[in-house]
Amino acid sequence: MQQSEQEQQKEQVIAQNEIPDLIINPYEVVNNSKKQIDYDKLIQSFGCQRIDQAHIDRIQALTQKPVHHYLRRGIFFSHRDLTQVLDAYEAGKGFYLYTGRGPSGDSMHVGHLMPFIFTKYLQEAFDVPVVIELSDDEKFFHKSETTLEEYQRYGYENAKDIIACGFDVNKTFIFLSSQYAGHMYHNICKFQHAITYSQLRGIFGLNESDNCGKVAYPAVQAAPSLSSSFKHIFGKDEVMCLVPQGIDQDPYFRMTRDVCYKLKVPKTGCIHSQFLPGLHGFGTKMGTTDPTSAIFLTDTPKEIEEKIKKHAMSGGGMTKKEHQEKGADLTVDVPYHYLRFFLEDDARLEEIRVQYGKGVMMTSEVKKELITVITKIVTEHQQRRALVTDEIVQKFMELRPLSNYPPKKNN
Ligand code: TRP
Repeated sequence: MQQSEQEQQKEQVIAQNEIPDLIINPYEVVNNSKKQIDYDKLIQSFGCQRIDQAHIDRIQALTQKPVHHYLRRGIFFSHRDLTQVLDAYEAGKGFYLYTGRGPSGDSMHVGHLMPFIFTKYLQEAFDVPVVIELSDDEKFFHKSETTLEEYQRYGYENAKDIIACGFDVNKTFIFLSSQYAGHMYHNICKFQHAITYSQLRGIFGLNESDNCGKVAYPAVQAAPSLSSSFKHIFGKDEVMCLVPQGIDQDPYFRMTRDVCYKLKVPKTGCIHSQFLPGLHGFGTKMGTTDPTSAIFLTDTPKEIEEKIKKHAMSGGGMTKKEHQEKGADLTVDVPYHYLRFFLEDDARLEEIRVQYGKGVMMTSEVKKELITVITKIVTEHQQRRALVTDEIVQKFMELRPLSNYPPKKNN
């Protein structure tokens, strides 16, 4: 009986996506199509917008800096109200960035870094404040594998990986939601007041046997989208918020934006990323249950090399002859796809696309290049992380003004 009710709830969430073989919500991402997700269809069914060249050109013009390859290559591909956020910036009112992570004890993999790498780029390019939520409460309610105290501890550990992405301590505030919630409780209440249980069921697929925390939590993820949740940074100012996020988080912010409208405050802006697939291929996931499915931030160069060589799904021909005749199928090739995410050099990437696609370049060569690129990223990350002490984490978590708010008037 209970099983069938849960199944029914799932149906609702799947029905919202309207795409066969694809489930995307904050608690589940399943792509059974074995191919790259059709992100255009996803945009359509979620009702968000594609980031177009005009946005990219405008960001370049406003920041006077080369635009991050995640934007150039459509890895951050979709948005809500990005135009309004850029308008606010151009008008000298500024905006702030908000992102987060549900802390887990499992070591983080390279895919987890994407929103943070991108947020750090935006912080530098626009020189705006960043707030980062570590939702220990969310993981406690949803995963329930250990105590709340343990999820808090994971939060501190994950904060070190986040800080190692290069955030500026004077411009970044990191908080654990179970500890900071009191400071934004007035806003949490407003969200809870504005959302009904049946709406939550519709959005998140909850049911009567779920714990109350799951019902209460969405307001805790929504509240940091209002600048009045951070009085120590913004005082009484109303500042627009932009949330870099994986597209699976969009349901939270659809709900948030609905309530913003009711509260008569500017709607939260969103900017969404695609998913990095697991090494075993499109439609597979990265996870600690199968260590060969992902590159973890704690992997050694040897492990990285072995994983990519042995486990990264290739779209190359079965034999050398076949490969040279037909070329590689880049739509299923993981090494090439990973290079799109991690190789910054556009000219080299294009060369690989053409040469490998034609069958001139072999899978082994592409893998070798990927190994070099990822090994550098991971080892440098490890070196920076080793320097992040508990004291440094504390500094990021202290309630204090940030040096780049209010924005300096320079135009
Ligand atoms: N729900 C996110 C997760 O499970 C964590 C999170 C909290 C978050 N606040 C956020 C993600 C804001 C993006 C933006 O990982």
